[in-house]
Amino acid sequence: MIRIAPSLLAADFARLKEEIDDVKQAGADWLHYDVMDGVFVPNISMGIPVLESIRKATDMFLDAHLMITEPVRYVRQFCEAGADLVNIHVEADTREKLMEALERIKAEGKQCGVTLKPKTGWEAAEPFLELVDLILVMTVEPGFGGQHFMADQMDKVRALRRRIDCCGRDIRLEVDGGVDRATAPVCVSAGADVLVAGSSVFRAADRTEAVKALRG
Ligand code: DX5
Ligand code: ZN
Repeated sequence: MIRIAPSLLAADFARLKEEIDDVKQAGADWLHYDVMDGVFVPNISMGIPVLESIRKATDMFLDAHLMITEPVRYVRQFCEAGADLVNIHVEADTREKLMEALERIKAEGKQCGVTLKPKTGWEAAEPFLELVDLILVMTVEPGFGGQHFMADQMDKVRALRRRIDCCGRDIRLEVDGGVDRATAPVCVSAGADVLVAGSSVFRAADRTEAVKALRG
């Protein structure tokens, strides 16, 4: 089953609840929530209080993508704020600290994931395979919406799909960045099963049609 996860980064923040209800109505499965600290990536987005408000406003599955350094410091707060899945970057800390962060997320009863930047090889996910519920492959450099899809990341998606299929665990494989109706089928045929889409959903004239087109 392919899941479509619109990224709220492309929503109108002044009308957040309407935007969320609208993409749910349009057939989206998850909401993708991008957190940026201005250090790990050269941009600042939203954080814990906004997530708390969103949690009260919707029952949609909330997929929090933490683009922050040393995520172990904050994962518990994101769980308490209402994230259903908390995603941390493998580049954001040492392997021990990342493992600790993932264990903390699981201890809160939430799903956890690891994310790989474009220059990071698929093998960087290997130490976390026994614990994670999801692996996210960035198909743009993290930090901004509306960038160009990096097709060269598909080898990584294919390698991870093979690895996941033989590890015997139920792990989702997500892609994020530049996913639209033209690039979605490329991701799905490489083995992705969760598609994050910011601009291509929120900027579409007909969001129901846009979600349907992504699903293929
Ligand atoms: C980028 C974010 C993405 C972004 C995707 O750092 O992680 O989730 O919102 O936006 P689009 O789909 O417009 O590339
Ligand atoms: Zn994201």
